[in-house]
Amino acid sequence: MKDSKKFWDDSAEKYVKSPIKDQVTYQKKLDITREYLTPQSQVLEFGCGSGGTAILHAPYVNQIVATDISDNMITIAEQRAKDANVENIRFQQGTLDQLHNADGSFDMVLGLNVLHLLEDVDDAIDQVHQLLKTDGVFISSTSLIGEVNIVFRWLISAMQWLGLAPYVSRFTRQQLIEKLKRSGFSIEKEWQTSHESVFIVAKKSGAM
Ligand SMILES: C[S@@+](CC[C@H](N)C(=O)[O-])C[C@H]1O[C@@H](n2cnc3c(N)ncnc32)[C@H](O)[C@@H]1O
Repeated sequence: MKDSKKFWDDSAEKYVKSPIKDQVTYQKKLDITREYLTPQSQVLEFGCGSGGTAILHAPYVNQIVATDISDNMITIAEQRAKDANVENIRFQQGTLDQLHNADGSFDMVLGLNVLHLLEDVDDAIDQVHQLLKTDGVFISSTSLIGEVNIVFRWLISAMQWLGLAPYVSRFTRQQLIEKLKRSGFSIEKEWQTSHESVFIVAKKSGAM
């Protein structure tokens, strides 16, 4: 299996060209997210990919820090933001564990279509919790590989072996909810967009 950075660097150009499959669901996720945004919001999006979602949210917030493990994704995202005349997104290559000096500084963290790609999901959720201000929200949408049927899971393994699929964590919906609660989040909204994917708004509660 290719390491994650190489997989996503190699996939960046193709990923950018692939259209969003379900525009209605995507728009609803944007709308729900905006319910939690204000012109003062400081937002982090990790695993931002080619920056499309950050660019759409940028007019509604003060500042977005958008990060991704892939240099190629970041290069494409920077160009797209420039083309769209968006100036309040700071793109940077990297992973969550490189953001420790920003602990307690975000009103919202977005992790869209990325949680299932992380090797240590528990640690990532703990880190997101630390990065948020009290009462800040973590908005995630993720595939639930643990809910996927056995044939499809076998196919994923075969594709990984051939270098055609990235690393994936195999958690279920229930396991994800438990991880979030263990880290100190309360679940504000949960929308199971299909049997194998979920959209969650989780709040960092005051008292731990
Ligand atoms: C499926 S894409 C989703 C991109 C974007 N969030 C979206 O919804 O279109 C997954 C992204 O996560 C990035 N990624 C994978 N592993 C990562 C990690 N450990 N830390 C940060 N980004 C990662 C990849 O480079 C890729 O851009």
